[in-house]
Amino acid sequence: MDLVATTAFGLEAVVARELSRLGYEAVTVEDGRVSFSGAEDAVCRANLWLRSADRVLLKIGEFTAVDFGELFDRIRDLPWSDWLARDAAFPVRAKAVRSTLMSVRDCQAIAKKAIVENLKARHGGEWLAESGAEYQVDISILKDRVTVSLDTSGVALHKRGYRTEGGTAPLRETLAAALVQLSYWDAQRPFADPFCGSGTIAVEAAMIGRNLAPGARRGFAAEAWPQFAAEAWRQARDEAADAVRAAPDHMLIATDIDERALDRARRHAANAGVGGDIHFQQGDVGALASKRKYGCVITNPPYGERLGDRGEAENLYRRLAKSVQALDTWSVYVLTAHPRFEQVFGRRAARRRKLYNGRIECTYFQYPGPRPPRRASAED
Ligand SMILES: C[S@@+](CC[C@H](N)C(=O)[O-])C[C@H]1O[C@@H](n2cnc3c(N)ncnc32)[C@H](O)[C@@H]1O
Repeated sequence: MDLVATTAFGLEAVVARELSRLGYEAVTVEDGRVSFSGAEDAVCRANLWLRSADRVLLKIGEFTAVDFGELFDRIRDLPWSDWLARDAAFPVRAKAVRSTLMSVRDCQAIAKKAIVENLKARHGGEWLAESGAEYQVDISILKDRVTVSLDTSGVALHKRGYRTEGGTAPLRETLAAALVQLSYWDAQRPFADPFCGSGTIAVEAAMIGRNLAPGARRGFAAEAWPQFAAEAWRQARDEAADAVRAAPDHMLIATDIDERALDRARRHAANAGVGGDIHFQQGDVGALASKRKYGCVITNPPYGERLGDRGEAENLYRRLAKSVQALDTWSVYVLTAHPRFEQVFGRRAARRRKLYNGRIECTYFQYPGPRPPRRASAED
């Protein structure tokens, strides 16, 4: 099967690396889409394990179209009845970027009509009840190239199921996981997030530390599709259950000034099964300290976006700089949209990466610390 893991702009390489660790090599990596191929088990495992992808799509066809007649004919001629039973529900969503066919609404309506015509010819009858399993059809048009897919994930993959309450400007779970995966943190190193809010970065790090599959506590659309054997899903879920490791070497530290945010964070961590791995504590960023060495601070402070708030955010960055001064063996990673972060923080980042927090363009400032001394391995 030809598969596509979709993701936010800037995270394609992170997802390609995740796929490679799962044993699938990316074929192409382009604007928010990483394509790969695999059998039934690849669909189950990618949905269960990908931490920074939004969805796993199954490609049905790909072609070029510059007018609606062409779009209709090519979609109608795809092998829909291989996938959609007579009662299948098939909502259509479309998006078009830098293409001749730019009206998303028209593309959706035409694609729907084309699939209906195909299925009526195949299954006979005038009426399709759409009362069965849902197959979300995804039409993506990029520079006139149309890719038609079925969405095997259903609800987007950032919804792991543990975040039951909102919060002030929470990060998407997929982005939080990417921040951790782009850092040097691993389960042997200390971790701290001094602006933890609803706890997303700490929870994602703790899940990585325990090798918990992010999708283990939720379902996926393709689990209701007869084309995927229940046994394949069971095997993938068993594999995920067997892969869980013991808690990281050190409790992860997550602090915030706001006690209510911490209550939410504690509940989220408990829901995710990592409540015992994170030490949540109320405190100001100025109180961040640790006797441990070679840890990682990974954090998403206020950006000071609203008029009048910028000075306050800058004050926090100065206090963060002062706190991490004493942590001279630690690596520091900060995601912010503040344009003068480095000047205020007082250090030039070794690496910067442009990332999007929803629609807000941010920079991920990376200050890697010294490497920890070589750990004794089993062979030593
Ligand atoms: C952008 S939010 C973090 C959101 C978090 N990453 C999440 O996913 O929920 C910034 C957080 O900084 C906290 N904060 C503001 N001033 C602070 C201070 N002086 N010390 C510590 N935390 C502070 C706020 O309470 C807020 O929760």
